[in-house]
Amino acid sequence: MEHTPEQPLRVAILISGRGSNMQALVDAVAADHLPVQVCTVLSNRADAAGLDWARARGLPVECLSHRDFESRDAFDAALLARLDALAPDFILLAGFMRVLGSDFVRHFDGRIINIHPSLLPAFPGLHTHQQALAQGVQWHGCTVHFVTPVLDHGPIIAQGAIPVGASDTPDSLAARLLPIEHRVYAQVLRWLAEGRVALEEGGCVRVAGVEHRAWAGDTLFE
Ligand code: GAR
Repeated sequence: MEHTPEQPLRVAILISGRGSNMQALVDAVAADHLPVQVCTVLSNRADAAGLDWARARGLPVECLSHRDFESRDAFDAALLARLDALAPDFILLAGFMRVLGSDFVRHFDGRIINIHPSLLPAFPGLHTHQQALAQGVQWHGCTVHFVTPVLDHGPIIAQGAIPVGASDTPDSLAARLLPIEHRVYAQVLRWLAEGRVALEEGGCVRVAGVEHRAWAGDTLFE
């Protein structure tokens, strides 16, 4: 459904650190007057810098530290209960660096979205820029995708690509990719608010009225 200011899309944004993707999402909501309500910015780390930014913007923020739980399952169960209480339409992982268990993912099936700094299915896991350089790929990028129980895997909503240069380092790739991540994730949030994103049987994504969901640098193919 297309959301309206009276019936906004409710999103929970989960972070673990800097929170620049969360900021890009929040800024897009404000700049484009999107009918989106951020029902929480939740971090599993109390020292996440993104929490301060969100608090200063007047957003509801909270910390649920994984360190306060004896097991991964216990943390997942507490997070699940908290998010259920907030009833978000979507849970947007924005640099959330905890692996979520399959029970959690199945509970919110089709409602968890992640951004990963590689062109999935290449380079899941950590150190993606290093992995890209080690493989000599000439295009690198980021992927916004639905989350499945398999780590850094799932139906792809949109991707942004950048060329890899001979002098690139993991740091230079990360720095060039980050603004593209922000654009891609913000656009996906717009499509979600417009009710255009459908997860089809068989696991492919369709975005109504949209032909290309691919960026080369900061240009979206039209
Ligand atoms: C981003 O580059 C994001 O793609 C990555 O962590 C960074 C978080 O930055 N996420 C992952 O690696 C998830 N597998 P941010 O806190 O500034 O958004």
